[in-house]
Amino acid sequence: MKALVYEGPGRKSLMERPMPKIAAATDAIVKVTRTTICGTDLHILKGDVPTCTPGRILGHEGVGIVEETGAGVTQFAKGDHVLISCISSCGKCEYCRRSMYSHCTTGGWILGNTIDGTQAEYVRIPHADTSLYPIPQGADEEALVMLSDILPTGFECGVLNGKVQPGGTVAIVGAGPIGLAALLTTQFYSPAEIIMIDLAENRLAVAKRFGATQAIKSSGKDAAHQVLALTGGKGVDTAIEAVGIPSTFELCQEIVAPGGVIANIGVHGVKADLHLEKLWSQNIAITTRLVDTASTPMLLKIVRAGKIDPKKLITHRFGLDQIADAYETFSHAADTKALKVIIETDAVRAIPAGAMDDDLSTALVTHTGLMLHVRTVKPEDEPLLADFFRHVTPEDLRFRFLGGVREVSHERLLAMTQVDHVTAEHFLAFAGGSDAIVAAAMVAFDPSMTKAEVAISVRADDRHKGVGWEMLRHAAHYAQSRGVSTLESLESRENHEVIELEREQGFVAVPYPDDPTLILIRKDLRSA
Ligand SMILES: NC(=O)c1ccc[n+]([C@@H]2O[C@H](COP(=O)([O-])OP(=O)(O)OC[C@H]3O[C@@H](n4cnc5c(N)ncnc54)[C@H](O)[C@@H]3O)[C@@H](O)[C@H]2O)c1
Ligand SMILES: [Zn+2]
Ligand SMILES: [Zn+2]
Repeated sequence: MKALVYEGPGRKSLMERPMPKIAAATDAIVKVTRTTICGTDLHILKGDVPTCTPGRILGHEGVGIVEETGAGVTQFAKGDHVLISCISSCGKCEYCRRSMYSHCTTGGWILGNTIDGTQAEYVRIPHADTSLYPIPQGADEEALVMLSDILPTGFECGVLNGKVQPGGTVAIVGAGPIGLAALLTTQFYSPAEIIMIDLAENRLAVAKRFGATQAIKSSGKDAAHQVLALTGGKGVDTAIEAVGIPSTFELCQEIVAPGGVIANIGVHGVKADLHLEKLWSQNIAITTRLVDTASTPMLLKIVRAGKIDPKKLITHRFGLDQIADAYETFSHAADTKALKVIIETDAVRAIPAGAMDDDLSTALVTHTGLMLHVRTVKPEDEPLLADFFRHVTPEDLRFRFLGGVREVSHERLLAMTQVDHVTAEHFLAFAGGSDAIVAAAMVAFDPSMTKAEVAISVRADDRHKGVGWEMLRHAAHYAQSRGVSTLESLESRENHEVIELEREQGFVAVPYPDDPTLILIRKDLRSA
Protein backbone atom coordinates (compact mmCIF):
# COMPACT_ATOMS: atom_id res chain seq x y z
CA MET A 1 0.00 0.00 0.00
CA LYS A 2 0.99 3.65 -0.39
CA ALA A 3 2.00 5.51 2.76
CA LEU A 4 3.73 8.73 3.75
CA VAL A 5 6.80 7.79 5.77
CA TYR A 6 8.84 10.01 8.11
CA GLU A 7 12.51 9.50 7.34
CA GLY A 8 14.11 11.78 9.93
CA PRO A 9 14.12 15.57 10.42
CA GLY A 10 13.16 17.41 7.22
CA ARG A 11 12.64 14.19 5.28
CA LYS A 12 9.53 12.25 4.29
CA SER A 13 8.37 10.31 1.26
CA LEU A 14 5.40 8.53 -0.20
CA MET A 15 6.40 4.90 -0.52
CA GLU A 16 5.12 1.36 -0.86
CA ARG A 17 4.67 -0.33 2.53
CA PRO A 18 3.21 -3.70 3.56
CA MET A 19 -0.46 -3.77 4.54
CA PRO A 20 -0.97 -3.47 8.30
CA LYS A 21 -2.05 -6.69 10.03
CA ILE A 22 -4.23 -7.32 13.08
CA ALA A 23 -1.79 -7.58 16.00
CA ALA A 24 -4.22 -7.82 18.93
CA ALA A 25 -7.79 -9.10 19.18
CA THR A 26 -9.00 -5.55 19.85
CA ASP A 27 -7.47 -4.11 16.65
CA ALA A 28 -9.24 -3.09 13.46
CA ILE A 29 -7.75 -2.39 10.06
CA VAL A 30 -9.35 0.67 8.46
CA LYS A 31 -9.20 1.53 4.78
CA VAL A 32 -8.56 5.27 4.88
CA THR A 33 -10.76 7.37 2.60
CA ARG A 34 -9.76 10.87 3.75
CA THR A 35 -7.05 12.20 6.02
CA THR A 36 -5.39 15.53 6.70
CA ILE A 37 -2.18 17.11 7.97
CA CYS A 38 -1.83 18.61 11.45
CA GLY A 39 0.55 21.28 12.72
CA THR A 40 1.89 18.52 14.92
CA ASP A 41 3.02 16.59 11.81
CA LEU A 42 5.11 19.64 10.92
CA HIS A 43 6.56 19.60 14.47
CA ILE A 44 7.55 15.95 13.88
CA LEU A 45 9.21 16.85 10.59
CA LYS A 46 11.20 19.54 12.36
CA GLY A 47 12.48 16.84 14.71
CA ASP A 48 10.57 18.29 17.72
CA VAL A 49 8.88 15.01 18.63
CA PRO A 50 11.56 12.46 19.60
CA THR A 51 9.03 9.67 20.27
CA CYS A 52 8.33 9.58 16.54
CA THR A 53 11.22 7.72 14.95
CA PRO A 54 12.27 7.41 11.30
CA GLY A 55 10.29 4.81 9.38
CA ARG A 56 6.99 5.87 10.94
CA ILE A 57 3.91 6.41 8.76
CA LEU A 58 2.59 9.87 9.74
CA GLY A 59 -0.97 11.06 10.38
CA HIS A 60 -3.42 10.89 13.28
CA GLU A 61 -6.61 12.15 11.66
CA GLY A 62 -9.00 10.61 9.20
CA VAL A 63 -12.09 8.70 8.23
CA GLY A 64 -12.46 5.39 6.47
CA ILE A 65 -14.11 2.03 6.12
CA VAL A 66 -13.47 -0.93 8.38
CA GLU A 67 -11.62 -3.59 6.40
CA GLU A 68 -11.02 -6.24 9.06
CA THR A 69 -11.58 -6.62 12.80
CA GLY A 70 -9.83 -8.67 15.47
CA ALA A 71 -11.81 -11.34 17.33
CA GLY A 72 -12.33 -9.05 20.33
CA VAL A 73 -13.93 -6.16 18.42
CA THR A 74 -17.69 -6.10 19.07
CA GLN A 75 -18.84 -2.61 18.03
CA PHE A 76 -17.59 -2.52 14.44
CA ALA A 77 -17.61 -4.86 11.46
CA LYS A 78 -16.17 -4.91 7.96
CA GLY A 79 -17.78 -2.23 5.81
CA ASP A 80 -18.61 0.19 8.64
CA HIS A 81 -17.95 3.84 7.89
CA VAL A 82 -15.88 5.24 10.75
CA LEU A 83 -14.20 8.31 12.19
CA ILE A 84 -10.70 7.71 13.55
CA SER A 85 -9.85 9.51 16.79
CA CYS A 86 -6.33 10.93 17.10
CA ILE A 87 -6.32 9.41 20.59
CA SER A 88 -6.47 5.64 21.06
CA SER A 89 -8.01 4.48 24.31
CA CYS A 90 -8.56 1.11 25.94
CA GLY A 91 -11.56 2.35 27.94
CA LYS A 92 -10.45 0.28 30.93
CA CYS A 93 -7.29 1.69 32.46
CA GLU A 94 -7.22 4.12 35.36
CA TYR A 95 -6.98 7.17 33.05
CA CYS A 96 -9.61 5.98 30.62
CA ARG A 97 -12.00 5.42 33.53
CA ARG A 98 -11.52 9.11 34.32
CA SER A 99 -12.17 10.07 30.64
CA MET A 100 -8.52 11.11 30.35
CA TYR A 101 -8.03 9.05 27.23
CA SER A 102 -4.98 11.02 26.20
CA HIS A 103 -3.12 9.29 29.04
CA CYS A 104 -4.43 5.78 28.37
CA THR A 105 -1.68 3.45 29.57
CA THR A 106 -1.78 1.44 26.34
CA GLY A 107 -3.00 4.20 24.02
CA GLY A 108 -3.10 8.00 24.06
CA TRP A 109 -1.56 9.83 21.13
CA ILE A 110 0.19 6.91 19.49
CA LEU A 111 -1.13 7.10 15.89
CA GLY A 112 1.46 8.58 13.57
CA ASN A 113 3.72 8.92 16.59
CA THR A 114 4.75 5.62 18.16
CA ILE A 115 2.72 3.42 15.78
CA ASP A 116 1.96 3.85 12.06
CA GLY A 117 -0.65 6.49 11.25
CA THR A 118 -3.40 7.48 8.85
CA GLN A 119 -1.57 9.10 5.91
CA ALA A 120 -1.75 5.78 4.10
CA GLU A 121 -4.22 3.55 2.29
CA TYR A 122 -4.76 1.41 5.40
CA VAL A 123 -4.14 1.88 9.11
CA ARG A 124 -4.24 -0.43 12.12
CA ILE A 125 -6.34 1.03 14.94
CA PRO A 126 -5.70 -0.46 18.40
CA HIS A 127 -8.60 -0.59 20.88
CA ALA A 128 -10.95 -0.18 17.93
CA ASP A 129 -14.18 -0.37 19.95
CA THR A 130 -13.25 2.73 21.96
CA SER A 131 -11.10 4.60 19.42
CA LEU A 132 -13.38 4.62 16.36
CA TYR A 133 -16.76 6.33 16.03
CA PRO A 134 -19.56 5.28 13.68
CA ILE A 135 -20.29 7.88 10.99
CA PRO A 136 -24.01 8.56 10.75
CA GLN A 137 -25.77 7.96 7.43
CA GLY A 138 -25.63 10.88 5.07
CA ALA A 139 -22.98 12.72 7.09
CA ASP A 140 -20.37 14.69 5.22
CA GLU A 141 -17.07 12.84 5.48
CA GLU A 142 -14.88 15.87 4.94
CA ALA A 143 -16.48 17.76 7.79
CA LEU A 144 -15.89 14.79 10.06
CA VAL A 145 -12.16 14.68 9.32
CA MET A 146 -12.07 17.87 11.41
CA LEU A 147 -13.39 15.85 14.36
CA SER A 148 -10.40 13.52 14.62
CA ASP A 149 -8.29 16.16 16.32
CA ILE A 150 -8.77 19.89 15.84
CA LEU A 151 -12.37 20.32 16.98
CA PRO A 152 -12.06 18.29 20.18
CA THR A 153 -8.70 19.98 20.81
CA GLY A 154 -10.04 23.53 20.49
CA PHE A 155 -13.11 22.62 22.50
CA GLU A 156 -11.59 20.55 25.31
CA CYS A 157 -8.22 22.25 25.84
CA GLY A 158 -9.48 25.77 25.05
CA VAL A 159 -13.20 26.17 25.66
CA LEU A 160 -13.96 23.60 28.38
CA ASN A 161 -10.74 24.14 30.29
CA GLY A 162 -11.09 27.90 29.79
CA LYS A 163 -14.55 27.80 31.43
CA VAL A 164 -16.15 30.02 28.80
CA GLN A 165 -19.41 31.49 30.14
CA PRO A 166 -22.46 33.17 28.57
CA GLY A 167 -21.73 36.88 28.42
CA GLY A 168 -18.06 36.34 29.21
CA THR A 169 -15.05 37.66 27.35
CA VAL A 170 -12.66 35.39 25.48
CA ALA A 171 -9.36 36.06 23.74
CA ILE A 172 -7.86 33.43 21.46
CA VAL A 173 -4.19 33.90 20.68
CA GLY A 174 -3.44 32.17 17.38
CA ALA A 175 -5.92 31.86 14.50
CA GLY A 176 -4.56 28.64 13.05
CA PRO A 177 -6.86 25.62 12.61
CA ILE A 178 -6.78 24.98 16.36
CA GLY A 179 -7.52 28.58 17.34
CA LEU A 180 -10.33 28.67 14.77
CA ALA A 181 -11.72 25.38 16.11
CA ALA A 182 -11.74 27.00 19.56
CA LEU A 183 -13.48 30.01 18.01
CA LEU A 184 -16.23 27.85 16.47
CA THR A 185 -16.84 25.83 19.63
CA THR A 186 -16.57 28.72 22.10
CA GLN A 187 -19.78 30.06 20.54
CA PHE A 188 -21.72 27.11 22.07
CA TYR A 189 -21.58 29.21 25.25
CA SER A 190 -22.46 32.64 23.81
CA PRO A 191 -19.61 34.72 25.18
CA ALA A 192 -20.18 38.47 24.69
CA GLU A 193 -16.75 39.16 23.20
CA ILE A 194 -14.38 36.91 21.28
CA ILE A 195 -11.11 38.66 20.51
CA MET A 196 -8.88 36.89 18.02
CA ILE A 197 -5.16 37.69 17.95
CA ASP A 198 -2.78 36.67 15.16
CA LEU A 199 -0.15 38.18 12.90
CA ALA A 200 -1.71 36.91 9.68
CA GLU A 201 -4.28 39.22 8.10
CA ASN A 202 -5.93 36.44 6.13
CA ARG A 203 -6.48 34.27 9.19
CA LEU A 204 -7.98 37.17 11.11
CA ALA A 205 -10.35 37.82 8.21
CA VAL A 206 -11.41 34.18 8.40
CA ALA A 207 -11.85 34.56 12.17
CA LYS A 208 -14.18 37.53 11.67
CA ARG A 209 -16.26 35.45 9.27
CA PHE A 210 -16.36 32.62 11.81
CA GLY A 211 -17.76 34.86 14.56
CA ALA A 212 -14.89 36.74 16.23
CA THR A 213 -16.15 40.10 17.50
CA GLN A 214 -12.70 41.73 17.38
CA ALA A 215 -9.50 40.93 15.51
CA ILE A 216 -6.10 42.18 16.62
CA LYS A 217 -3.21 41.97 14.18
CA SER A 218 -0.39 42.29 16.61
CA SER A 219 1.56 40.43 19.24
CA GLY A 220 3.29 41.02 22.56
CA LYS A 221 2.78 44.25 24.55
CA ASP A 222 0.91 46.03 21.79
CA ALA A 223 -1.64 43.22 21.52
CA ALA A 224 -2.01 43.27 25.32
CA HIS A 225 -2.72 47.03 25.28
CA GLN A 226 -5.35 46.59 22.63
CA VAL A 227 -7.09 43.80 24.55
CA LEU A 228 -7.10 45.88 27.73
CA ALA A 229 -8.46 48.87 25.81
CA LEU A 230 -11.27 46.71 24.41
CA THR A 231 -12.20 45.36 27.84
CA GLY A 232 -12.24 48.57 29.88
CA GLY A 233 -8.85 47.76 31.33
CA LYS A 234 -10.04 44.51 32.90
CA GLY A 235 -8.76 41.89 30.49
CA VAL A 236 -10.58 38.71 29.46
CA ASP A 237 -12.26 35.98 31.47
CA THR A 238 -10.73 33.32 29.24
CA ALA A 239 -7.38 33.61 27.47
CA ILE A 240 -6.77 30.69 25.11
CA GLU A 241 -3.18 30.10 23.96
CA ALA A 242 -3.22 28.38 20.55
CA VAL A 243 0.28 29.03 19.20
CA GLY A 244 2.82 27.25 21.40
CA ILE A 245 5.61 29.81 21.92
CA PRO A 246 6.73 31.63 25.11
CA SER A 247 5.63 35.12 24.01
CA THR A 248 2.04 34.11 23.36
CA PHE A 249 1.82 32.36 26.73
CA GLU A 250 3.13 35.56 28.33
CA LEU A 251 0.59 37.60 26.39
CA CYS A 252 -2.15 35.47 27.94
CA GLN A 253 -0.79 36.33 31.39
CA GLU A 254 -1.06 40.04 30.58
CA ILE A 255 -4.63 39.92 29.34
CA VAL A 256 -6.29 37.54 31.80
CA ALA A 257 -8.79 39.35 34.06
CA PRO A 258 -8.94 38.74 37.81
CA GLY A 259 -10.72 35.44 38.38
CA GLY A 260 -10.04 34.38 34.79
CA VAL A 261 -8.49 31.30 33.22
CA ILE A 262 -5.51 30.86 30.92
CA ALA A 263 -6.21 27.74 28.88
CA ASN A 264 -3.07 26.59 27.12
CA ILE A 265 -3.49 24.50 23.97
CA GLY A 266 -0.15 25.09 22.22
CA VAL A 267 2.57 22.45 22.19
CA HIS A 268 5.58 24.15 23.76
CA GLY A 269 9.12 23.14 22.90
CA VAL A 270 10.90 25.54 25.27
CA LYS A 271 10.24 26.99 28.73
CA ALA A 272 8.12 30.10 29.18
CA ASP A 273 8.14 32.64 32.01
CA LEU A 274 5.37 32.62 34.59
CA HIS A 275 4.82 36.08 36.13
CA LEU A 276 3.73 35.05 39.61
CA GLU A 277 4.96 38.41 40.91
CA LYS A 278 1.89 39.88 39.15
CA LEU A 279 -0.49 36.98 39.08
CA TRP A 280 -0.27 35.65 42.66
CA SER A 281 -3.13 37.89 43.79
CA GLN A 282 -5.33 37.66 40.69
CA ASN A 283 -7.33 34.49 41.51
CA ILE A 284 -6.58 33.06 38.11
CA ALA A 285 -6.15 29.48 36.97
CA ILE A 286 -3.83 28.07 34.32
CA THR A 287 -4.75 24.83 32.59
CA THR A 288 -2.90 22.54 30.22
CA ARG A 289 -4.27 19.52 28.41
CA LEU A 290 -3.50 16.97 25.78
CA VAL A 291 -6.75 16.49 23.89
CA ASP A 292 -8.73 13.53 25.23
CA THR A 293 -11.36 13.39 22.45
CA ALA A 294 -13.89 12.75 25.19
CA SER A 295 -16.16 15.30 23.50
CA THR A 296 -16.16 13.58 20.10
CA PRO A 297 -19.62 11.94 20.43
CA MET A 298 -21.11 15.31 21.40
CA LEU A 299 -19.33 17.11 18.57
CA LEU A 300 -20.58 14.49 16.09
CA LYS A 301 -24.15 15.31 17.12
CA ILE A 302 -23.55 19.06 16.90
CA VAL A 303 -22.10 18.79 13.41
CA ARG A 304 -24.85 16.41 12.31
CA ALA A 305 -27.42 18.94 13.53
CA GLY A 306 -25.76 21.70 11.50
CA LYS A 307 -24.98 23.80 14.60
CA ILE A 308 -21.40 24.28 13.47
CA ASP A 309 -19.78 23.63 10.15
CA PRO A 310 -16.18 22.45 10.52
CA LYS A 311 -15.93 22.06 6.76
CA LYS A 312 -15.36 25.80 6.63
CA LEU A 313 -11.81 25.06 7.76
CA ILE A 314 -10.99 23.10 4.60
CA THR A 315 -9.16 25.16 2.00
CA HIS A 316 -7.40 22.62 -0.23
CA ARG A 317 -7.89 19.08 -1.47
CA PHE A 318 -5.33 16.58 -2.81
CA GLY A 319 -5.09 12.93 -3.77
CA LEU A 320 -2.78 10.66 -1.72
CA ASP A 321 -0.38 10.66 -4.68
CA GLN A 322 -0.08 14.44 -4.30
CA ILE A 323 0.57 14.35 -0.56
CA ALA A 324 3.97 16.03 -1.02
CA ASP A 325 2.13 19.01 -2.57
CA ALA A 326 -0.35 18.91 0.29
CA TYR A 327 2.52 19.25 2.80
CA GLU A 328 4.03 22.08 0.71
CA THR A 329 0.72 23.92 0.68
CA PHE A 330 0.00 23.36 4.37
CA SER A 331 3.45 24.32 5.57
CA HIS A 332 3.41 27.61 3.60
CA ALA A 333 0.09 28.79 4.95
CA ALA A 334 1.06 32.46 4.83
CA ASP A 335 1.39 32.29 1.03
CA THR A 336 -1.15 29.62 0.23
CA LYS A 337 -3.76 30.77 2.79
CA ALA A 338 -4.17 27.11 3.75
CA LEU A 339 -6.09 26.12 6.86
CA LYS A 340 -6.87 22.41 6.63
CA VAL A 341 -6.02 20.33 3.57
CA ILE A 342 -7.94 17.16 2.74
CA ILE A 343 -6.10 14.17 1.32
CA GLU A 344 -8.28 11.63 -0.45
CA THR A 345 -7.28 8.06 -1.22
CA ASP A 346 -8.65 5.93 -4.05
CA ALA A 347 -10.95 4.33 -1.49
CA VAL A 348 -13.18 7.42 -1.53
CA ARG A 349 -15.10 5.61 -4.24
CA ALA A 350 -15.87 2.74 -1.90
CA ILE A 351 -17.79 4.92 0.54
CA PRO A 352 -20.94 2.99 1.37
CA ALA A 353 -24.00 4.00 -0.63
CA GLY A 354 -25.59 4.99 2.68
CA ALA A 355 -23.47 8.12 2.56
CA MET A 356 -26.01 9.24 -0.01
CA ASP A 357 -29.53 8.34 1.06
CA ASP A 358 -31.55 5.78 -0.91
CA ASP A 359 -33.37 8.46 -2.86
CA LEU A 360 -29.94 10.02 -3.54
CA SER A 361 -30.82 13.03 -1.40
CA THR A 362 -28.04 14.45 0.69
CA ALA A 363 -26.95 17.50 2.65
CA LEU A 364 -23.94 19.45 1.43
CA VAL A 365 -22.23 22.43 3.02
CA THR A 366 -20.17 24.83 0.93
CA HIS A 367 -16.88 26.27 2.18
CA THR A 368 -18.68 29.54 2.86
CA GLY A 369 -21.08 27.74 5.16
CA LEU A 370 -24.11 27.59 2.88
CA MET A 371 -26.14 24.49 3.68
CA LEU A 372 -27.59 22.76 0.65
CA HIS A 373 -30.21 20.07 0.49
CA VAL A 374 -29.70 18.11 -2.70
CA ARG A 375 -32.20 15.70 -4.22
CA THR A 376 -33.09 14.28 -7.59
CA VAL A 377 -35.59 16.03 -9.81
CA LYS A 378 -39.30 15.17 -9.79
CA PRO A 379 -41.82 15.81 -12.59
CA GLU A 380 -43.62 18.40 -10.43
CA ASP A 381 -40.44 20.51 -10.23
CA GLU A 382 -41.14 22.16 -13.57
CA PRO A 383 -42.36 25.53 -12.16
CA LEU A 384 -39.38 25.65 -9.75
CA LEU A 385 -36.97 24.95 -12.59
CA ALA A 386 -38.63 27.53 -14.82
CA ASP A 387 -38.21 30.10 -12.05
CA PHE A 388 -34.60 29.01 -11.51
CA PHE A 389 -33.68 29.61 -15.14
CA ARG A 390 -35.01 33.16 -14.88
CA HIS A 391 -32.27 33.75 -12.27
CA VAL A 392 -29.41 32.28 -14.24
CA THR A 393 -27.23 34.58 -16.33
CA PRO A 394 -25.37 33.33 -19.40
CA GLU A 395 -22.11 33.14 -17.39
CA ASP A 396 -23.76 30.94 -14.80
CA LEU A 397 -25.33 28.81 -17.40
CA ARG A 398 -23.28 25.81 -18.10
CA PHE A 399 -26.00 23.95 -19.89
CA ARG A 400 -24.48 24.85 -23.23
CA PHE A 401 -27.10 22.76 -24.95
CA LEU A 402 -29.86 25.01 -23.67
CA GLY A 403 -29.06 27.84 -26.00
CA GLY A 404 -30.46 31.16 -24.77
CA VAL A 405 -31.33 31.42 -21.11
CA ARG A 406 -34.63 33.16 -20.83
CA GLU A 407 -36.24 31.11 -23.52
CA VAL A 408 -35.71 27.72 -21.89
CA SER A 409 -38.69 26.10 -23.48
CA HIS A 410 -41.41 23.98 -21.97
CA GLU A 411 -40.04 21.00 -23.92
CA ARG A 412 -36.57 21.50 -22.46
CA LEU A 413 -37.96 21.80 -18.96
CA LEU A 414 -40.01 18.69 -19.50
CA ALA A 415 -36.88 16.84 -20.60
CA MET A 416 -35.09 18.05 -17.49
CA THR A 417 -37.82 17.11 -15.04
CA GLN A 418 -38.57 13.72 -16.52
CA VAL A 419 -35.17 12.09 -16.67
CA ASP A 420 -35.16 8.29 -16.56
CA HIS A 421 -32.74 8.16 -13.58
CA VAL A 422 -30.74 5.51 -15.49
CA THR A 423 -29.11 7.15 -18.50
CA ALA A 424 -29.51 10.58 -16.92
CA GLU A 425 -29.86 12.00 -13.44
CA HIS A 426 -30.69 15.53 -12.47
CA PHE A 427 -29.83 16.90 -9.02
CA LEU A 428 -31.43 20.03 -7.61
CA ALA A 429 -29.93 21.94 -4.68
CA PHE A 430 -32.03 23.97 -2.25
CA ALA A 431 -30.67 26.28 0.44
CA GLY A 432 -31.82 25.89 4.02
CA GLY A 433 -35.57 25.41 4.25
CA SER A 434 -36.28 27.36 1.06
CA ASP A 435 -37.89 25.77 -1.97
CA ALA A 436 -36.07 27.98 -4.46
CA ILE A 437 -33.50 26.09 -6.50
CA VAL A 438 -29.94 27.32 -5.91
CA ALA A 439 -28.23 25.05 -8.40
CA ALA A 440 -28.88 22.20 -10.78
CA ALA A 441 -26.50 19.49 -11.92
CA MET A 442 -27.41 17.14 -14.71
CA VAL A 443 -25.40 14.00 -15.33
CA ALA A 444 -25.91 12.08 -18.58
CA PHE A 445 -24.32 8.70 -19.24
CA ASP A 446 -23.26 7.41 -22.61
CA PRO A 447 -24.84 4.10 -23.69
CA SER A 448 -21.74 2.08 -22.83
CA MET A 449 -21.83 3.52 -19.29
CA THR A 450 -18.11 4.23 -19.43
CA LYS A 451 -18.47 7.98 -19.80
CA ALA A 452 -20.70 10.65 -18.32
CA GLU A 453 -21.17 14.34 -19.00
CA VAL A 454 -22.07 16.85 -16.34
CA ALA A 455 -23.64 20.29 -16.72
CA ILE A 456 -24.10 22.56 -13.74
CA SER A 457 -25.78 25.91 -13.36
CA VAL A 458 -25.89 28.12 -10.30
CA ARG A 459 -28.38 30.87 -9.44
CA ALA A 460 -26.79 34.25 -10.09
CA ASP A 461 -27.31 35.53 -6.50
CA ASP A 462 -25.54 32.48 -5.12
CA ARG A 463 -22.38 32.78 -7.12
CA HIS A 464 -19.01 32.68 -5.31
CA LYS A 465 -20.36 30.67 -2.41
CA GLY A 466 -18.81 27.35 -3.38
CA VAL A 467 -22.11 25.95 -4.69
CA GLY A 468 -20.68 24.96 -8.08
CA TRP A 469 -17.76 23.27 -6.35
CA GLU A 470 -20.02 21.11 -4.15
CA MET A 471 -22.36 20.23 -7.00
CA LEU A 472 -19.44 19.17 -9.18
CA ARG A 473 -18.09 16.95 -6.41
CA HIS A 474 -21.53 15.53 -5.83
CA ALA A 475 -21.98 14.79 -9.53
CA ALA A 476 -18.52 13.19 -9.73
CA HIS A 477 -19.23 11.09 -6.65
CA TYR A 478 -22.51 9.95 -8.18
CA ALA A 479 -20.91 9.15 -11.55
CA GLN A 480 -18.21 7.17 -9.77
CA SER A 481 -20.77 5.22 -7.80
CA ARG A 482 -22.39 4.28 -11.13
CA GLY A 483 -19.06 2.86 -12.28
CA VAL A 484 -18.20 5.21 -15.15
CA SER A 485 -14.53 5.88 -15.74
CA THR A 486 -14.58 9.35 -17.32
CA LEU A 487 -16.54 12.46 -16.45
CA GLU A 488 -16.62 15.35 -18.93
CA SER A 489 -18.00 18.82 -19.08
CA LEU A 490 -18.09 21.48 -21.76
CA GLU A 491 -17.16 24.99 -20.75
CA SER A 492 -16.88 28.31 -22.43
CA ARG A 493 -13.18 28.96 -22.95
CA GLU A 494 -13.62 32.32 -21.21
CA ASN A 495 -15.05 30.85 -18.05
CA HIS A 496 -11.66 30.86 -16.31
CA GLU A 497 -13.04 30.76 -12.80
CA VAL A 498 -15.00 27.60 -13.40
CA ILE A 499 -12.17 25.95 -15.32
CA GLU A 500 -9.86 26.66 -12.38
CA LEU A 501 -12.39 25.15 -9.99
CA GLU A 502 -12.57 22.02 -12.09
CA ARG A 503 -8.80 21.82 -12.31
CA GLU A 504 -8.63 21.87 -8.49
CA GLN A 505 -10.87 18.84 -8.48
CA GLY A 506 -8.55 16.94 -10.79
CA PHE A 507 -10.15 17.73 -14.17
CA VAL A 508 -7.87 18.39 -17.12
CA ALA A 509 -8.79 20.76 -19.94
CA VAL A 510 -8.48 19.54 -23.53
CA PRO A 511 -9.34 21.39 -26.76
CA TYR A 512 -12.83 20.87 -28.15
CA PRO A 513 -12.37 20.58 -31.91
CA ASP A 514 -16.04 21.09 -32.84
CA ASP A 515 -16.20 24.59 -31.39
CA PRO A 516 -13.12 26.71 -30.61
CA THR A 517 -15.06 28.87 -28.13
CA LEU A 518 -15.49 25.80 -25.95
CA ILE A 519 -13.15 23.67 -23.95
CA LEU A 520 -13.61 20.08 -22.86
CA ILE A 521 -12.90 19.32 -19.21
CA ARG A 522 -12.28 15.70 -18.36
CA LYS A 523 -11.61 13.70 -15.20
CA ASP A 524 -10.47 10.11 -15.00
CA LEU A 525 -12.59 8.73 -12.18
CA ARG A 526 -10.57 5.52 -11.88
CA SER A 527 -7.50 7.41 -10.75
CA ALA A 528 -9.46 10.17 -9.01
N1 LIG B 1 -2.89 20.34 23.35
C1 LIG B 1 -3.15 19.52 22.35
O1 LIG B 1 -3.64 18.42 22.54
C2 LIG B 1 -2.87 19.95 20.95
C3 LIG B 1 -3.43 19.23 19.87
C4 LIG B 1 -3.20 19.66 18.57
C5 LIG B 1 -2.41 20.78 18.35
N2 LIG B 1 -1.85 21.45 19.41
C6 LIG B 1 -1.01 22.64 19.23
O2 LIG B 1 -1.83 23.80 19.07
C7 LIG B 1 -1.05 24.83 18.47
C8 LIG B 1 -1.82 25.47 17.33
O3 LIG B 1 -1.99 24.54 16.28
P1 LIG B 1 -2.34 25.00 14.79
O4 LIG B 1 -2.41 23.77 13.97
O5 LIG B 1 -3.51 25.92 14.80
O6 LIG B 1 -1.00 25.79 14.45
P2 LIG B 1 -0.66 26.89 13.34
O7 LIG B 1 0.81 27.00 13.33
O8 LIG B 1 -1.39 26.60 12.07
O9 LIG B 1 -1.31 28.24 13.92
C9 LIG B 1 -0.66 29.09 14.82
C10 LIG B 1 -1.11 30.51 14.54
O10 LIG B 1 -0.42 31.35 15.45
C11 LIG B 1 -0.06 32.55 14.79
N3 LIG B 1 1.06 33.16 15.51
C12 LIG B 1 2.37 32.84 15.45
N4 LIG B 1 3.07 33.64 16.25
C13 LIG B 1 2.19 34.50 16.83
C14 LIG B 1 2.33 35.57 17.76
N5 LIG B 1 3.49 35.91 18.25
N6 LIG B 1 1.21 36.24 18.14
C15 LIG B 1 0.00 35.89 17.63
N7 LIG B 1 -0.18 34.87 16.76
C16 LIG B 1 0.91 34.19 16.36
C17 LIG B 1 0.28 32.10 13.40
O11 LIG B 1 0.16 33.18 12.48
C18 LIG B 1 -0.77 31.01 13.15
O12 LIG B 1 -1.94 31.52 12.53
C19 LIG B 1 0.26 24.16 18.03
O13 LIG B 1 1.26 24.43 19.00
C20 LIG B 1 -0.12 22.69 18.02
O14 LIG B 1 1.00 21.85 18.14
C21 LIG B 1 -2.10 21.05 20.69
ZN1 LIG C 1 -2.99 16.88 15.49
ZN1 LIG D 1 -6.79 3.26 28.72
